[in-house]
Order: sequence, then structure tokens, then C-alpha cells
Amino acid sequence: MGHRVLVAVGGGAAAMKSPFVVRRLLEAGYEVRVLASPRALAFTTETALALASGHEVATETRWFEPHGRALHLDLAAWADLVLVAPATAAALARAATGLAEDLLTATIVGGARQVLWAPAMNPEMWHHPTTQANVRRLKALGHGFAGPVHGAMASVGEAEGLGRMVEPEDLVAHVRRALAPKDLEGLHFLITAGPTREHLDPVRFLSNPSSGKMGFALAEAARDRGAKVVLVSGPTALPAPFDVTLVRVESALQMRQAVLDHFEQSDVVIMAAAVADWRPAEKLPEKEAKSGREKTLHLVANPDILAELGTMKAGRVLVGFAMETGHGLERAFAKVKRKNLDFICLNHPTQPETAFGGDTNRIVVVFPDGRTESLGLASKRELADRILDRVRGSIQQRV
Ligand code: C5P
Repeated sequence: MGHRVLVAVGGGAAAMKSPFVVRRLLEAGYEVRVLASPRALAFTTETALALASGHEVATETRWFEPHGRALHLDLAAWADLVLVAPATAAALARAATGLAEDLLTATIVGGARQVLWAPAMNPEMWHHPTTQANVRRLKALGHGFAGPVHGAMASVGEAEGLGRMVEPEDLVAHVRRALAPKDLEGLHFLITAGPTREHLDPVRFLSNPSSGKMGFALAEAARDRGAKVVLVSGPTALPAPFDVTLVRVESALQMRQAVLDHFEQSDVVIMAAAVADWRPAEKLPEKEAKSGREKTLHLVANPDILAELGTMKAGRVLVGFAMETGHGLERAFAKVKRKNLDFICLNHPTQPETAFGGDTNRIVVVFPDGRTESLGLASKRELADRILDRVRGSIQQRV
């Protein structure tokens, strides 16, 4: 991390959200500076942007202050990425033709290393052939695009349509992707996430508190690094990540089927799902009435999906997760061997900072030769990248 992002705020109504974009990027660990066009300051203020970023805002009026430097060249040299948010049709047109008369375009033409556009405009303007031609031209020049997305427009009473700026927190995901190394390009990942639900009747089930966050973080990290990702998830509250094929399932048996459906074309399989080990022997078609009496459940074992994949592994990289509430090293080591895995990620879901549902985790990687490696305590996203580094290591050992 530690990348430098210049948020270039264009003159559209979505500029109201630009201070939040700045904040979300800072929270994600980026260094952030802001450039604002004169029209942007009709929708937000220099004070709001300066407060959000903690730095003076680069504006047209500062461009030609007698400080003896070319501000546009300084900004272009400073930024690893220029995020234009919001990007207007006019800004796209100027950049596509190199009309560097304003600070924003001059910064882009002045040597910006990477540009990501977050367009926000009325759907008519977005769909207009000139706008679309400019977008194609910028894409051909290597510029990236985040959105626009479908939704409500800024002016009251205007119809919904395609032209809304991607929301600030989602823009962070696009920035992360733009800046990620593309070291998993061409690989197909199959990742599982979340709990499974094993129904007793239509409204009662056995499950566990897995939130799915670790598996989703892995899917997003692999996508960002260039992989094609199929994510098979049990019930979670998490939104579908963009550019990931999400297959939602409920039970372990459904998860097994979905995993088998995608196994053939996968190069790497990571089972982060907390699959229920048992399911009720029968699922009642109707809700069973309360009786007030004791009840015994008859459970049968679910198939071990990962162990089954281990028998069909061929050249694939197979990774598992092990949750242990006590000393799990020996058990994890036994599992990595029994399930024919490249490695297993051991975590302890009963410790405070690694509890189910949290945003951080602590992982120890256990290899079949008995080696162990601590990935430390970190955000699930950061750990996902560290796990993918180990996946790359396993791939490199194959060639
Ligand atoms: O044996 P244990 O359940 O501890 O192994 C955990 C690993 O195996 C996880 O990667 C989990 O996703 C996977 N698993 C599975 N099918 C099961 C149970 C666990 O694939 N029925």
C-alpha cells in the first residue's frame, strides 16, 4: 500500500460526494491529494476537500501563482494514480483530444502514470456517441473506467438511468484493483465462502456464524490481481463483488455441486467456507409444530468437499482453511496431508481480534512438509493478498 492517489474533482453534481471519496481512500491507507476544477467548486467547497484530505487543494487559481513550479507537472509526477471523480463528459472530451487548457487535463497530459475515470452525468450525455467515442479512445490509451452505474440522478424529478457515479466505498475497490500487480493474470480461481445452512424444516436450520468476509476478500484480491474468479458462497450479508462470478448456495450438498460444476476449469481452489459437518437426516416439508417435549435430532455426515477435490487434484493448487478452538497445529498438519492440499490456513475464531464476522484475522499457514509460516494479524483483505502470494509460490514450484 502507501500508493499516492490524486483525486481530480470535475464539475458535476456528484462532486458533492468527492470529500467522502477522499476520506474512504485515506482510510484504506492511500496518500491522497485533491485537484478541483472551478465548476467542481459549485457543488462542493475547497474547505470541504482540504479538510477531508488534510492538504491544500490544487485549483486553477493556484496553477499560476508565482511559486516557480509547474503545478500540473508536479501533480502528475507525484501521483501513482489520478482518479477523476466525478468525471464529466467535457473532461473526457478534453483528455481524449489532449486539450490541456485546464489544470485537470494538463495534469493528465503532463505525464500522469495511470488514470481512472469515474464518470457521472445524465444518461443522455453518457450514451451520446461523442462521449462513447471519447471513452473508447481513452480506453485504447490505457485509461481505466469505474462505472458509471445505474441509479437515481442528482436533479430532483429526473428519471433513473446509467450515469450515476460509483459510490465512494466502491471506488476504493476500483482504485485498489487499478493499482494491484497483475501477477495472477490468466488463472482461474474457484473460491468458497460463508457458512452453509442445513435445514430441519423450511424455517429452521443448523449453521455457524461465518460472515464470508475472508472468502470474499480472497475473491476480490484474486480478481484485482488479474484472475478470473468464481465465488461459491453460502448465505451472507455481503454484496456481490464486481467482476466476480458469484454462485449463491445454501446447503453443503448444494455447495459441493456448485464446486464440482466449476472445478474442471479451475487452476486454484481455495475453500474458505465453513461447511457444516452434519445435516439433519431428513428435511421436513412443513414447519414442525412446537410440542414442549424433548427432541432428538438425527444428523448424518456431510461429504467433505475439499477431501473429495484432493483426490482429483491433478496440477491444481488446493488450499483449505482450518478453524480450531484449541492448539490446532497438529490437526491442521494432519488435514493438509489427508486432503492433499498445498497448504492450509489455520485460524482461531474464538480469539477477540480473530472472531467470526470481524474485519481482521490471524493466520498461520501450514504446509504438508511440516513447515509453518505466520501471516500475522491483519485485515482480511491484507491477509488475502498474503495468502495469494503463497498460492503464487505453489504455482512457481510446479514449473
Ligand atoms: O476438516 P475440516 O472441516 O476442519 O477442514 C476444513 C476445510 O475443509 C475448510 O477448507 C473447509 O472449507 C473444508 N470442508 C469441506 N467440506 C466439509 C467440511 C470442510 O470442504 N464438509
